[in-house]
Amino acid sequence: MPSHTGDGLLRTVKFSERHEVTESVAGVERVGVVGCGQMGAGIAEVCARSGLEVLVAETTGEALEIGRTRLVNSLGKAADRGKLSRQECDAALERLTFTTDLGDFADRDLVIEAVIENEQVKTEIFQVLDQVVTRPDAILASNTSSIPLVKLAVATSRPDQVIGIHFFNPAPIQRLVELIPALTTGEETIKRAEHVVGQVLGKHTIRAQDRSGFVVNALLIPYLLSAIRMFESGIASREDIDNGMELGCAHPMGPLKLADLIGLDTVASVADSMYTEFKEPLYAAPPLLQRMVDAGRLGRKAGAGFYTYS
Ligand SMILES: NC(=O)c1ccc[n+]([C@@H]2O[C@H](COP(=O)([O-])OP(=O)(O)OC[C@H]3O[C@@H](n4cnc5c(N)ncnc54)[C@H](O)[C@@H]3O)[C@@H](O)[C@H]2O)c1
Repeated sequence: MPSHTGDGLLRTVKFSERHEVTESVAGVERVGVVGCGQMGAGIAEVCARSGLEVLVAETTGEALEIGRTRLVNSLGKAADRGKLSRQECDAALERLTFTTDLGDFADRDLVIEAVIENEQVKTEIFQVLDQVVTRPDAILASNTSSIPLVKLAVATSRPDQVIGIHFFNPAPIQRLVELIPALTTGEETIKRAEHVVGQVLGKHTIRAQDRSGFVVNALLIPYLLSAIRMFESGIASREDIDNGMELGCAHPMGPLKLADLIGLDTVASVADSMYTEFKEPLYAAPPLLQRMVDAGRLGRKAGAGFYTYS
């Protein structure tokens, strides 16, 4: 359990039975997560497990219930696998609350937006957050994979406090987080974000410029699109493409399985943003990807993509 010192700026954050570190939390104790899909649920879990108080928002009660179940199940699995004790699991659950009203985010020190990869939807959320979050030095972050952070920053009256904090899927397991300052982001915001993500959440951070795709997706998306093109043109079966990279290059997961895990709508949206930014043919989404998205075959989260899932 976190223990507070007198001034409230220092606390002991217990990541697991094995690690115990004392760190300044840079004034971040109350986190808000907007969106409780694959990424929002994972980010909320990471924050709650690290001792932060987390409020999670979704669009409807139904979406909230689906997200809450995803989160509770994930924490339960982590406890079953011995990644955290039952006590820690219960303590993390106690730190989590849920809402469908962004107005409840008034007292948040840090908000991480993790809704669908759609510029208009994200921009509107940043406008609302700007209105409702009252703490003057609150950090407003986006988990976007490809949308220019500066566009979200200038939608607010505090563009110096907006930054990209890009987690990887599944967030409780993947160690990397990309930090993406916009042209407008202040040095203080960057330092505090780096501190919270690195020291409190225990992630490895890398910095990237505000260019669509940042570091990892700029390398990964052309690879995934190439695999989809290869499958579409009939060069090899989906299994052979995936086995080729798993058994031939020791990748833990082949590209079509990975695209299913990420979500084909997300892969398509990220590719579109990167294509819009660079006009490079290697970022152009192949027609099959778009047709699968149109058909609702979004990958693992929808039960069907390149593979089917129970
Ligand atoms: N899937 C990945 O592997 C991955 C990895 C890193 C970053 N990202 C990024 O994270 C973000 C979310 O991706 P995801 O995979 O979790 O998508 P997802 O489809 O699993 O979840 C998106 C969630 O956002 C919710 N939502 C939509 N509009 C909302 C609103 N106005 N307010 C609150 N909630 C709203 C939806 O109900 C849904 O639950 C995207 O920006 C994506 O690019 C995804």
